[in-house]
Parts: sequence; structure tokens; C-alpha cells
Amino acid sequence: MSKIHVFNAGPCLLPQVAIEHAREALLDFKGTGVSLISISHRTKEWEETMNETRALWREILNIPEDYETVFLGGGASLQFLYVAMNYLEKKAAYLDTGVWAHKALKEAQGIGEAYAIACSKDRNYTYIPKGFEIPTDLDYLHITTNNTIYGTEIKHDMDCPVPLIADMSSDILSRRVDVSKYELIYGGAQKNAGPAGVAFAIIRKDSLGKVSRYIPTMLDYRTHLDKESMFNTPPVFSIYVMNETLKWLKSIGGIDAIHEIDEKKAATLYAEIDRNSLFTGTAEKEDRSIMNVCFVMAPGYEDLQDEFFAFAKSKGMIGIKGHRSVGGFRASLYNACTQEDVEALVATMKEFEALKK
Ligand SMILES: Cc1ncc(COP(=O)(O)O)c(C=O)c1O
Repeated sequence: MSKIHVFNAGPCLLPQVAIEHAREALLDFKGTGVSLISISHRTKEWEETMNETRALWREILNIPEDYETVFLGGGASLQFLYVAMNYLEKKAAYLDTGVWAHKALKEAQGIGEAYAIACSKDRNYTYIPKGFEIPTDLDYLHITTNNTIYGTEIKHDMDCPVPLIADMSSDILSRRVDVSKYELIYGGAQKNAGPAGVAFAIIRKDSLGKVSRYIPTMLDYRTHLDKESMFNTPPVFSIYVMNETLKWLKSIGGIDAIHEIDEKKAATLYAEIDRNSLFTGTAEKEDRSIMNVCFVMAPGYEDLQDEFFAFAKSKGMIGIKGHRSVGGFRASLYNACTQEDVEALVATMKEFEALKK
């Protein structure tokens, strides 16, 4: 059996050390003799973990003092609703860059007036719309910085005349972000930050309390800010693994170091996609994501798709099937995926080409 190389889009590969420490903590959390999943979240041992996670998160992402992070259940999908509940008063605009952006918009439209300011559906979301005008009377503009399904990414922190809100589910912790340019950054943890079960929201503290609607207690960010993410029982297991993932990230040099590694991995795979005559990339080159690399069989070779899946599987490649809405292939190169994993995939593509040509 070949070594396994995991390219899952999420939940995805996490650092081995985080998994090993989680295994130990499942049996005995910090020498308490109690399992991590049985420990009370009101113990000092847990509070230490919670505080340490928050501190690491702040340090690694260089989050300014006037922002605070909450860790919540419900995934990024529930954050779509949180955003509208907490920020939509008169009107909001959404950049429609694919399924997730569209779902976020739909949720806002159930709460108030929200519309797509620009959309890349005309070419199946293979690019990021540019040059659109942003009206200054918006409550906020919502963007999805990395479009997990299509492999497109907004790789810079845009200047925005209105409060900017970003879903960074699938590229958080892959590049240095100027948090001060955003009113709110949120996402599910289950790509670069940890396992499924916890979502994060980095909130500019003075941005809340400006809408006139009643916000149900659990959907009000202030509830969770006031109680430091422990208003109700936090997802302890997920937060613990997140803590270990952040420690690992810090130990390898933090954001700048991982960004360099991530860029190199993506460049390696894109170079092969561009070189190999059997494959072609789907996203516009300038908008290519460094996290999710999407490609298909080149014209004339479409019939080889299933054969390549089987071949890649025999070489230990896991999770390279494209999202069901777009087909083809997608290799997700999140932080715990290594250069060696990517090189194994590249070697597989080369070998397949040699067999077929
Ligand atoms: C960019 C983006 N936003 C939102 C989501 C939804 O996340 P969740 O499953 O945590 O609700 C995903 C899931 O893959 C995603 O990639």
C-alpha cells in the first residue's frame, strides 16, 4: 500500500502532533485523570486551554486590541445568519463568488435587503469579479475570500468605503491579514484552524449594537463576547485540537512561514497542471487559490477522468474529487498538507501522462 496523501477539502488534514496530543487528552486531560470530552468547561484546566487558544489566535493572526474573537458552534453556515442579524439594518451587498457566498446572501435576504453587487456565475465562478462600484450607503459589503469549491481567492485585503465582512473559512491562517480593514472576519475552523465543530468570528468590538431588531440571545455576538465564548457549553474537543494546531503553526514560524510553504505547494501543483498536456486548470490564473487547486482533464482527454481517479487512488491520493457541483479534480493544500504530498500528486500526474501518451 502506498503512503496516503490527504487532499480533502474539509474536514481536512491536520498536523499529526495535534492529533496525537488529542489522543492523549481523550484519555487524560492535563493529568486530571478525566477525559477531554468529560471535563467540565468550568474547570481551571479548561479555562486555561480556552484562554491560551484565544491568546495564540490573537498572536498568530496579529489581531488588534479593539477586536475580539468568539469561538462558536454551528459552523460557518450559522455565521451567515449571525452576520445579517448583527449588522444588517438597511441594506447590504454581497460579492457572489460561488455557492458559499450565495448561501450567505440568501440568509441575509431572509432578514432584510441584501443583493449581489457583482457575480461570476457567467463563467461558473472561475474568477473574482473586479471593478465594481461600492455604494457608500451600505451597512456592509460581504466577501468570501477563498472559494473552496472553485479554487479562486481574493489574496489581498481590499480597500472598502463601507464596513467589510469576510468569510475566511478556507484561507484563514494561510496569509498575513490586515484585520483592521475588516469589521468582521468569520469562518468554520475545519480547514486550517482545527477540526469541524467550531467556528470563529473576529469582531471589531465597537461594530456591534447598531441594528434596531431584536437579536435572539444565541445569535447576538455580544452574548458570546461578554461570556468569552462560554455562554453555553463550548465545543471542547474542537477547541482543544484548534489549540494544538495553533501551537504547531507557531512552532514552525507562524503566518509568514506557512504562507511561504503554502505558496510553494500551490506553485508546484499549478506548474504541473500548466505543463501536463492531459490536465487543465479551471480558475483564472490571477485568481488562483493557494488553498484549493481545481483542474479537469484537458479537452480531448475527458474520457480519462475516471481512469485517473483510479490511478491516483492506487498511488494513495485521497480526496482529489472536485465538488459535486463542478466535477473534475480539486486538491486542497491546507496548512498541514506538505510539499512532499504535493510532489507525490505531481509525480502521479506525470506518470499517468507517460502511460497515456
Ligand atoms: C468558504 C466557505 N464558507 C462556508 C462554508 C460552510 O462551512 P460549514 O460547513 O462550517 O457551515 C464552507 C464549507 O466548506 C466554505 O468553504
